Amino acid sequence: MRVLVVYGSKRGGTAGIARMVGGALRGAGIDAEVRSGDEAEGVAGYDAVVVGGALYSSRWHRHARRFVKRHAAKLRDKPVWLFSSGPLGHAENRREDRPPVKQVQRLLNRIGARGHVTFGGRLERNAKGILASRMAKTRAGDWRNPERIRRWTLDIAQQLRPESPDPAARGAPRGRPHPS
Ligand SMILES: Cc1cc2nc3c(=O)[nH]c(=O)nc-3n(C[C@H](O)[C@H](O)[C@H](O)COP(=O)(O)O)c2cc1C
Repeated sequence: MRVLVVYGSKRGGTAGIARMVGGALRGAGIDAEVRSGDEAEGVAGYDAVVVGGALYSSRWHRHARRFVKRHAAKLRDKPVWLFSSGPLGHAENRREDRPPVKQVQRLLNRIGARGHVTFGGRLERNAKGILASRMAKTRAGDWRNPERIRRWTLDIAQQLRPESPDPAARGAPRGRPHPS
């Protein structure tokens, strides 16, 4: 089982989430590779794909967006999960079921992705850029939640298992056969 984890990130926060996803998949015994969307070559040879994008003005970072568009036809034939990363602040992250922004919803529909989640974002106090530095005055901080990211990833790992390890779930008889 090989999984490709692709991200679009401007300031590194979403790249960090992608690495956490990759680490959790590997911890679950799955071979995972993590790549930026502008570096990932394609999806051939992978059994499943996770794509995550940083949110900027309610749009995904272009490296994530373009990756999905470029490989849409092939992604349709694989199990794919999407994540967005953005909301800054406790109040903004109280809801765990935040729906995807419109643009991401359209990508999700186009490739028939299995799911989407929005994780909290990160903005450093010394962020560069006119808008970012202004925003950082009131909203700098790290709202990425490693435990939540791990839970989401382990759920994916569970769905990717070829068959349940529980013999009862496969209809096999429980326990050892009785000695006769
Ligand atoms: C200029 C600017 C615009 C942003 N717009 C949004 C937005 O529309 N929605 C959102 O949830 N977060 C928004 N954010 C927060 C970022 O998504 C967050 O900082 C994220 O972690 C950035 O990811 P990156 O470090 O991978 O680039 C914005 C941040 C900046 C600096």
